[in-house]
Amino acid sequence: MVRRRLHRVAGAEPIGPYTLLRLERGDSEPGEPGQFFMLEAPGRVLPRPMSLCLATRAELAFLIDPIGPGTSALCELEQGEELHLLGPLGHGFDLAVERPLLVGGGIGLAPLPFLSKRLARAGKGRPPAILGFRSEWHAEAAALLPDAEVCIEPTFVTALLPDERHDVLACGPEPMLVALRVLVPTAQLAWESPMACGYGACHGCVVELDGELRRLCVDGPVLRHGGTHGSPTSPLLRRAGTASRTRAPAGRAGDSAWSVRP
Ligand SMILES: Cc1cc2nc3c(=O)[nH]c(=O)nc-3n(C[C@H](O)[C@H](O)[C@H](O)COP(=O)(O)OP(=O)(O)OC[C@H]3O[C@@H](n4cnc5c(N)ncnc54)[C@H](O)[C@@H]3O)c2cc1C
Ligand code: FES
Repeated sequence: MVRRRLHRVAGAEPIGPYTLLRLERGDSEPGEPGQFFMLEAPGRVLPRPMSLCLATRAELAFLIDPIGPGTSALCELEQGEELHLLGPLGHGFDLAVERPLLVGGGIGLAPLPFLSKRLARAGKGRPPAILGFRSEWHAEAAALLPDAEVCIEPTFVTALLPDERHDVLACGPEPMLVALRVLVPTAQLAWESPMACGYGACHGCVVELDGELRRLCVDGPVLRHGGTHGSPTSPLLRRAGTASRTRAPAGRAGDSAWSVRP
């Protein structure tokens, strides 16, 4: 059930340019992989949408790329501080697939560790994964998905797609998703759009889906081309490309079970 709850920060660890923000779980439900939560960033009026990266009985964790004031404030949170979380929200990935292949680009890795664990728990075994990053530094985050095949630009992750048919479940930058949609028309793709409320009230996340204007927060963020939710063709709200994203501030090393030592 969707709830707004106060969570205490259990820790925050740097992983390459990103930060893994771990929150005490309390009695919050993690939802389904690909669903998202709205995180209230300190000092910001609007919450920021984040995919759940990992869930244990004790914690919920989010992998955050500090590209602006909201994400930077979230990455600077320290153990013991508190923040509100609303979720789980939106439509996640459909786990009823035969031969899953996880595909991630950059911070699009974020929902894949939770997705991988849920697929394994559903009896699919640990699914293969391919990940693409801008640099070796960004690729340090691949430690969250230990068996993944990784490539660094100028090689794009689409170059790692196997010849045999797979059920592709993907998250990444828009150009990667557009390319995947052409190569694998049945792929389930997690799209992004700026979001203010996360539950259908503000219309800030409207995109064009197969000729219709739809709210990505309620019709997505995971869409299956040609399926129930159609596919986005041209977001109405233009946004900066990944090239304009800034580098992360230095983080702190943690000593939790989720600490990543690449
Ligand atoms: C469903 C969903 C799940 C997400 N999951 C994650 C996640 O797990 N980890 C993570 O780091 N980020 C995730 N994001 C993106 C994250 O919400 C944005 O980067 C964040 O809201 C930016 O806030 P800011 O204040 O730091 O920067 P802002 O000042 O708001 O934005 C900085 C720049 O990024 C652009 N931008 C803002 N939001 C988006 C967006 N959603 N898509 C593309 N460009 C944007 C702005 O136009 C601006 O140029 C997700 C977004 C959505 C919609
Ligand atoms: S974010 Fe408010 S309607 Fe989608």
